Amino acid sequence: MPRLLSVNVGLPRDIAWHGQTVRTAVWKEPVQGRRMVRRLNIDGDGQGDLAGHGGEQRAVFVYQMESYHYWERQLSRHDFVFGQFGENFTVEGLSDEEVCIGDQYRIGGALFEVTQPRVTCYRVGNRDEHPFAQEARRLLQTLPNSRCYILYSRPGQEDRPGRDFDAAGHFNVTVLKELGVPREADFYLCGPAAFLHDLTSGLAAWGASRERIHTEIFGSTPSSTPGLVDTAPSLPPHLPTGYAGTGPPVSFSRSGLVAHWDPRFQSLLELAEACDVPVRWSCRTGVCHSCESGLIAGSVSYQPEPLERPAEGNLLICCSQPEGEIVLDL
Ligand code: FES
Repeated sequence: MPRLLSVNVGLPRDIAWHGQTVRTAVWKEPVQGRRMVRRLNIDGDGQGDLAGHGGEQRAVFVYQMESYHYWERQLSRHDFVFGQFGENFTVEGLSDEEVCIGDQYRIGGALFEVTQPRVTCYRVGNRDEHPFAQEARRLLQTLPNSRCYILYSRPGQEDRPGRDFDAAGHFNVTVLKELGVPREADFYLCGPAAFLHDLTSGLAAWGASRERIHTEIFGSTPSSTPGLVDTAPSLPPHLPTGYAGTGPPVSFSRSGLVAHWDPRFQSLLELAEACDVPVRWSCRTGVCHSCESGLIAGSVSYQPEPLERPAEGNLLICCSQPEGEIVLDL
């Protein structure tokens, strides 16, 4: 019978690392008693690099006691505490062999669904850069009707077609067509942002339905702030150049600046950027909550409506507009 041993939470912190600042929430502390779990987080928890962690599909991270024991043996350590591996739930008895994507578990009043393993995404250049190759092949063999097709972008001299890989080149819609994949299929894509953008556009141009294209960004993204925090000096906050807004005043209290709203901006994030007010963002569409900031006074409307509203007293600047005079903790 599986058991939940500990619930662990922690919020992102900036730490100095090799002369840079890294935002991370890897340190989790066990909590006692009940905790509210929402669609994106357990209360008191957060993620630092939202390009690689968090979001609806990775809201809660689970790690097994059996894996603790493995690392204790590997590292000859016996000082691990719950949350040591950055996990939210430390569990016992849910082995990788038993748990499947789609399995659901009820804990208290919350229902959890297994969405994905903790696997780092990678691009495969050749056999030397092809981690988990054996494991992936073994797992695929256990799936009825599965099919595997491996592209190496730069096959090495030792790499053998048919044994190590199927073809040389890069993955794109032409490959899918050649493989006979129907355009009515569901497409689950992961990879760097540029790769996802190209492939998604290619699939849409081919006639695949947007609703059937599911993407997840791994690796570096063009978004500005996850992970490493840019500490380079920037311009001091200023009024946007080349225009004078006539809408309600927006006060950036930390920056000591008041700028009038103008509907030419899509969101308060855009106004803040035009003012060089320091901001943090990732998805810019109301999903990741990277841009969540304090709303000191006033109210905002949302367009588009975020996946989940921010905490009481906060706002998501990437998708909100002022309803009147407002004061922001920025
Ligand atoms: S940047 Fe993701 S919710 Fe605002």
